[in-house]
Amino acid sequence: CGIVGYVGVNPAKQELIDSLKKLEYRGYDSVGITILNSSLDTYKSPGKIADLETILPVDIDGYTGIGHTRWATHGQPTKQNAHPHLSGNISIVHNGIIENYQQLKEELIEAGYEFRSETDTEVIAHLLNSYYQQNDDFHTAFQNTLKRLDGSYAVAAVCDDMPDIIITGKKNSPLVVGLGNGCNFAASDITAFLKHTKDVVFLEDLEIAQVQQNEVQFFDLEGNPIQKKKQRVEWDLEDAEKAGYEHFMLKEIHEQTKSVYNTFAGKLSELDGSINLEELNLTKKQIRNLTRIELIACGTSYNAGLIAKYLFEQLAGIHTNIDTGSEYRYRYPVFCDSDDVLSIAISQSGETADTIAALQSLKSSGCRTLAITNVMGSSITRDADDVMYIKAGPELGVAATKTFTSQLTILYLLAVHFARIRRNIDIEESRNFIKALKKLPGNIQRILNAKDTVRKYAKQFSEVSDYFFIGRYMNYPVALEGALKLKEISYIHAEGYAAGELKHGPLALITEDTPVVAIATSGHTYDKIISNIMEVKARNATVIAVAEEDDNEIEKYVDLVLRIPKTDELLSPILSNIVLQLLAYYTALAKGCSIDKPRNLAKSVTVE
Ligand code: G6P
Repeated sequence: CGIVGYVGVNPAKQELIDSLKKLEYRGYDSVGITILNSSLDTYKSPGKIADLETILPVDIDGYTGIGHTRWATHGQPTKQNAHPHLSGNISIVHNGIIENYQQLKEELIEAGYEFRSETDTEVIAHLLNSYYQQNDDFHTAFQNTLKRLDGSYAVAAVCDDMPDIIITGKKNSPLVVGLGNGCNFAASDITAFLKHTKDVVFLEDLEIAQVQQNEVQFFDLEGNPIQKKKQRVEWDLEDAEKAGYEHFMLKEIHEQTKSVYNTFAGKLSELDGSINLEELNLTKKQIRNLTRIELIACGTSYNAGLIAKYLFEQLAGIHTNIDTGSEYRYRYPVFCDSDDVLSIAISQSGETADTIAALQSLKSSGCRTLAITNVMGSSITRDADDVMYIKAGPELGVAATKTFTSQLTILYLLAVHFARIRRNIDIEESRNFIKALKKLPGNIQRILNAKDTVRKYAKQFSEVSDYFFIGRYMNYPVALEGALKLKEISYIHAEGYAAGELKHGPLALITEDTPVVAIATSGHTYDKIISNIMEVKARNATVIAVAEEDDNEIEKYVDLVLRIPKTDELLSPILSNIVLQLLAYYTALAKGCSIDKPRNLAKSVTVE
């Protein structure tokens, strides 16, 4: 979900709707706005922004307002539960979860407040109101309110005694101020106001901003003014628009020729085979001394991490563990000497609550921490010792595509860099890695040129109820990601499996109605995957192979083939994955699914 606040010279109604539409990609199931004029004009609706628009009067007076897209956590996605929540002459929007809301609610009910929703958020509105009643100072009331909240929040509040002011603050949930010309914004992310400005100030936890049309002031929770640095973001508005594509996802799949290039641009030297990762502040000695890497990630980023495990172990000879953020944070890991452990958190949004919590726990165990993310100023960048940006540009489709391939690209660079330092790999070997990387954009383009074949097969199988994806070695995580993408957006049950594990259970599910996608690129497990293909063929499954262009054998074993250009074995997961992105996309398209905003899913999961 997301919040936005606008103060400026334009009617707030349209500005808020435009900004909320930019935040839609984060996932939501209800929406609302408050516009400040002589009263607090508040409109809310379950469903989409378009549903809200149908109930908005044509003209609403007012140049200051707050808006919200809600992804239900406490209480159903109903009008009552939608934000903004009002208390007296105060209206607020909130992103996050208030963990002590029950206790606060009881206290407020005792004090005579009536609750109209089932949300945790409503306590903020009433608490703010109760403090405001006590001393008539909205700033102090806001500070006192934030001090009482446990959990995570980005809150924006307006009060009709102060018609041109938005007060906003945060803890464990993103909040960024946009400094426009004649207008200012506060929002969950920069896409909300990219149309107006690229000048931003990222708020830290427990900081407050007072946003007015020509001025923004920052304070700590005691009300002391603080100086904040303005930053300029690199993203362009066009990057956040569909540019003629039917869906953001399709646009983002096509952008991979460019985004993968942007990830490695300026980092490669073919001359001496070196990789320049200046943002990584690890000395050669520290890299040589690494005994272990701990990878942490969720969802698609986790699948990128699984592939990275093979890269770090095989190329750089570093023992590598991986876990999801949500599991790691409740484990009791053992560290002999945490100084020699590098923890890498991978998160395209940089906001995934579980990943951040796991990273913090690794940091407090004494590990050095590195965050790999796409979003400048995101929460994770403040927790990690080092940050590497993948520079994929804004990704607005909920299903991650270009951020995944850019994550793999940067992880590959990191592994080669570590290999050069730790294993002294010769210049020729390193140059070959670099050459293969440089060919990636062209190879991706060739896959995109052949997308009609993928589309045809996708349509052919779009009515099945189960799909299997199998692979071995690095193609095992590719299979996991292929299945994840398909289930996310087409709602077809799909399982990714290590092909060698089929015989331990899932083979029982294979029938003539189960298409099996086998990732069968060349390498030391090629013969093994062929054996696994034979196993499923023997159960009458239709097998679709992802194979290289020069593989003349594969057709003997499978029913259909999707081709990728030949590349270095360690880079082939990127190319295979793009075929599987297209397969998921065209399957969902054939089924008429909501591709950019799949049901129940959110792009940025800032709650546990
Ligand atoms: C959500 C998104 C996924 C993403 C996952 C992890 O579930 O829908 O696409 O892979 O979060 O997000 P992160 O931003 O940490 O990579």
